Amino acid sequence: MDYTYLNCLAELGVGGAHPGGHPLTKNLLDAEAIREETKVLEVGCGTGRTSAFISKCYGCQITAIDIHEIMVKKAKKRFLEEKLPINLVRGNVEKLPFEASMFDVVLSESVISFTNASLAIPEIKRVLKSEGILLGIEMVLEQKIPEEDLQPMKDFYELSKIRTVEEWDSLLVENGFYDREITTVIPSFDPSDPDNAPEFQLSDNTDVMYFDILKEHEKLTKMYQDVLGYRIFRCKG
Ligand SMILES: C[S@@+](CC[C@H](N)C(=O)[O-])C[C@H]1O[C@@H](n2cnc3c(N)ncnc32)[C@H](O)[C@@H]1O
Repeated sequence: MDYTYLNCLAELGVGGAHPGGHPLTKNLLDAEAIREETKVLEVGCGTGRTSAFISKCYGCQITAIDIHEIMVKKAKKRFLEEKLPINLVRGNVEKLPFEASMFDVVLSESVISFTNASLAIPEIKRVLKSEGILLGIEMVLEQKIPEEDLQPMKDFYELSKIRTVEEWDSLLVENGFYDREITTVIPSFDPSDPDNAPEFQLSDNTDVMYFDILKEHEKLTKMYQDVLGYRIFRCKG
């Protein structure tokens, strides 16, 4: 398997691999009216930490999808071990294997940036019910810098494009999303909060090279801290 960032997350089984981590997930969900009958789709569920939390905390109907074979395997193990009735699917958010207007809420935590967003956003809109809610946490370009300076970042994360807030917002508008609220993710780290503890679910015989990739990710995050930021996008479809 290639030494890519997403393969690294999969091999190390990093749970809550998004800015703000699990504490932000809990706050975001807390602000929504999620009831037992609410149908939630989590796209790019990774190892399933968020979907498991939603299922346990809200008892609602949840579907989780991810494209990565190892992520899906680890999410499946989690859901089975915790006996959670989550519909887990391996698939692509750019071509969702669901009928139109199926979900009340679609949650995407650091996923769409890794896809062709021009395909993923209309797909999410298609599967959302009228007035359904998209909750997304995404990387944004805070300041324009020469393309060649951005290239190491794009290469490392295999990103085709890094969008400004305005570019994300235009994409949402073009695809019919409305009542858009865009909030800055302010990284905060409370060491006393157990939810901040990193979660790993290592593969058997994990290649140590993946730990170096994680270190490279931390190095790049520091290097680009003034150039890249993160936003929460909440809007209706
Ligand atoms: C940074 S990880 C975040 C995982 C998870 N949301 C979390 O916060 O822990 C990005 C996830 O998006 C998934 N992904 C990337 N491209 C995808 C696509 N086209 N369709 C579905 N999932 C995708 C990856 O496999 C990975 O699990």
